[in-house]
Amino acid sequence: MINVNKPFLPPIEEYNAYVESIWKRNWLTNNGPLVNELELKLKEYLNVEHLLFLNNGTIALQIAVKALNLSGEIITTPFSFVATTSSIVWEGCQPVFADIDPHTLNIDPASIEKAITDKTSAILATHVYGNPCDIDAISAIARKHKLKVIYDAAHCFGTLYKGKSVFAYGDVSTTSFHATKLFHTIEGGAVFTQDPDLLKKMAYIRNFGFDGPDNFAELGINGKNSEFHAAMGLANLKYADEILKQRKASCKYYDERLVNLKHTKIRLQEEGGFNYAYYPIILESESMLLKCMEELNDNRIFPRRYFYPSLSSLKYVQNAEMPVCDSIAKRVLCLPLYHDLDKFDIDFICRILLRSQKYQFLNSLLG
Ligand SMILES: Cc1ncc(COP(=O)(O)O)c(C=O)c1O
Repeated sequence: MINVNKPFLPPIEEYNAYVESIWKRNWLTNNGPLVNELELKLKEYLNVEHLLFLNNGTIALQIAVKALNLSGEIITTPFSFVATTSSIVWEGCQPVFADIDPHTLNIDPASIEKAITDKTSAILATHVYGNPCDIDAISAIARKHKLKVIYDAAHCFGTLYKGKSVFAYGDVSTTSFHATKLFHTIEGGAVFTQDPDLLKKMAYIRNFGFDGPDNFAELGINGKNSEFHAAMGLANLKYADEILKQRKASCKYYDERLVNLKHTKIRLQEEGGFNYAYYPIILESESMLLKCMEELNDNRIFPRRYFYPSLSSLKYVQNAEMPVCDSIAKRVLCLPLYHDLDKFDIDFICRILLRSQKYQFLNSLLG
């Protein structure tokens, strides 16, 4: 079976060495030494000034909205994982959707401008698939209208923008270290900011608002992560360069094998350094996608419709027509991509796709 994703696992002895150290200290959670070590090593690896390790990427988004004191409307993308929208609603704000760019699939700055009202407090944009948004344009809009910016950078481990980690942009950037991400801590996430005061506030929020044993500086939540999760992160971090390299090579191989497939690829951000987190293809129609998927599934290959459906169709939001997103969400398919996906697997996947498309074409000629 070939799934869309397969979590990376480090050699078990390397994880066990950390677990033995946890046993010795009997310190399992609450800002332990492995959490501190992981935070330091991540800052060094990513070359960012500040970050807080959290228990998942959804809490990271909610903490960002809370810490920035946002209210009213937040302009966001309809093409993302559900947590991007649900976090806004969970924090009592209203998501207002702006359509996406048809080439990058990231939020379109021109649509953001059109959606601004006197109730808008922020922009929450996703760097889709690890490909950075037009950060310069979004920053200019935010400056002009005095809006805060949060980037959902859940897919962005290793992504650069203008030579810097993409996590260094926005008032707050958030990420996910879920097991399906290219760097993971089983469950986990982080917030990043350049602002030391905001960092302090988010650190309080992460730990119930505690400021000393009997004092509360903020309204908080439990956003902490454990020593066991930090241990997985530390064990995995050693392999991050290798994982990034392997994914790039697999994407290149897909590119070569799929030259004759009728599809479009996402346009990469010119200022960006893509991390090859996903391999999305955009097909000509939803029926073509469904047929390709069916044939892949018959061969025990499970790509994923990601993201589908458009978040503007969720039950708990004000629905809006998003023509570009609606069309893309129906036609985009992420093909299997993980660290040890081999060339034979990619050959097999591509052969099925090419054959499926050929038969669909022949059938269309027969009427
Ligand atoms: C774009 C995006 N945002 C947020 C999340 C939520 O992250 P987590 O699963 O760590 O809560 C994900 C997870 O897949 C995601 O892809």
